[in-house]
Amino acid sequence: MIVIHNIGQLVTLEGAVKKQGRNIVFQDLGIITDACLVLNGIGRKCKVEWVGKSSDLPKKYNKAKKINANKQLVMPGFVDSHTHLVFAGDRSREFEMRLAGHTYQEIALAGGGIVKTMTATRLISQADLLKISLKRVDTFLRQGVTTFEIKTGYGLDFDSEEKCLKIIDKLKKTTPATIVATFLAAHAVPPEYKGKKTEYTKLVATKWLPKLKKYCDYLDMFLDEGYFDKEDAEVLLTQAQKYKIRIKLHADELKLTGGTQTACKFNALSADHLLQISQKEIELLSKSEVTATLLPTTAFFLKAAYAPARRLLDSGARVALATDFNPGTSPTQDISLVAVLAALQMHMKTEEIITALTLNGAYALGLAEKKGALLKGYDADFIMLESNSVAKVFYEFGQVQRNLKVFTNGSFYS
Ligand code: NIG
Ligand code: FE
Repeated sequence: MIVIHNIGQLVTLEGAVKKQGRNIVFQDLGIITDACLVLNGIGRKCKVEWVGKSSDLPKKYNKAKKINANKQLVMPGFVDSHTHLVFAGDRSREFEMRLAGHTYQEIALAGGGIVKTMTATRLISQADLLKISLKRVDTFLRQGVTTFEIKTGYGLDFDSEEKCLKIIDKLKKTTPATIVATFLAAHAVPPEYKGKKTEYTKLVATKWLPKLKKYCDYLDMFLDEGYFDKEDAEVLLTQAQKYKIRIKLHADELKLTGGTQTACKFNALSADHLLQISQKEIELLSKSEVTATLLPTTAFFLKAAYAPARRLLDSGARVALATDFNPGTSPTQDISLVAVLAALQMHMKTEEIITALTLNGAYALGLAEKKGALLKGYDADFIMLESNSVAKVFYEFGQVQRNLKVFTNGSFYS
């Protein structure tokens, strides 16, 4: 048992939990001043046992080990529900091409894009790719991102997709982060299947998925112009449902091609990107259980128009924010940049951003029962920082907060 006492402000997200992450107002952050947080259990089983005012702390906790928070702010660890963290190589040459006026799609057609990273990811050894990935896990943890998703999708042949899934599995088991594995073999058609998209999709659905499903928490597809279409989705998503694997989708990023509609039809956990959606998709999402996951650093890096966050939020959709960390469209792990762009470019309020990066990220990963809030029964993943307001969490953007302390499963990480 551990009691974290002398907390200046404790952000519990109590109201946000009650409202299932929708129509969030400031009060829903459930901030308790002069608070205590009691933790109980060991390792992955370390949970929040009690939260409340210091003056209300039950006497039975008096003898527990104490950690003095020195009036700092305590809030749930961040949940990044969309990353492509396992990849090799870099695409800085493409960045230069884009600066010279070429579009993302033009570069992909000229042999760059996902296929460029695929080649590097196929060539690297499992041990070397694991080493690179471990550094990236540390980069997330140091910023207080205690739970995150990792997609495959840069292998695009059986052995390389398996290699990436095994790396994710190793990261799950050997790091203090909570990691979710998403199978994204339908990220792009690999060169050996050029012109044979339907055949490739069937191969993934009927041959790869049955063999690799033991490593996969979820399945994703890049449903967009020039990549996969609704017919491919029917084939692959039906197969995933057969194996009871929930779906997350890259939807309506480059063009409006029915991704959001497909996500709703298949009761996906999330529909991600959504740069091109219309009022129809906004209404569909707001009435569904699908979490709308917005990725502002991607829009920023592609110089694209941002997703319609305000309209989604105002119509009652559940909105999450994530980094989309990948070498092509969002080569950053900076969670504070995601937040500051959401505030300045997407007009999201502080309370909406905090919820989007904690509880609603957990919703997008099917983990909302135990991640993204600090209430009795939730996992003991939290951060501690010198601040007297939640607005300050992201105000000093572009750097890891000074004196940030990160705890996963009740243990101090850094
Ligand atoms: O989320 N949209 C698809 N996949 C990535 C980009 C991948 C790449 O360019 O390497 C994304 O934006
Ligand atoms: Fe992505």
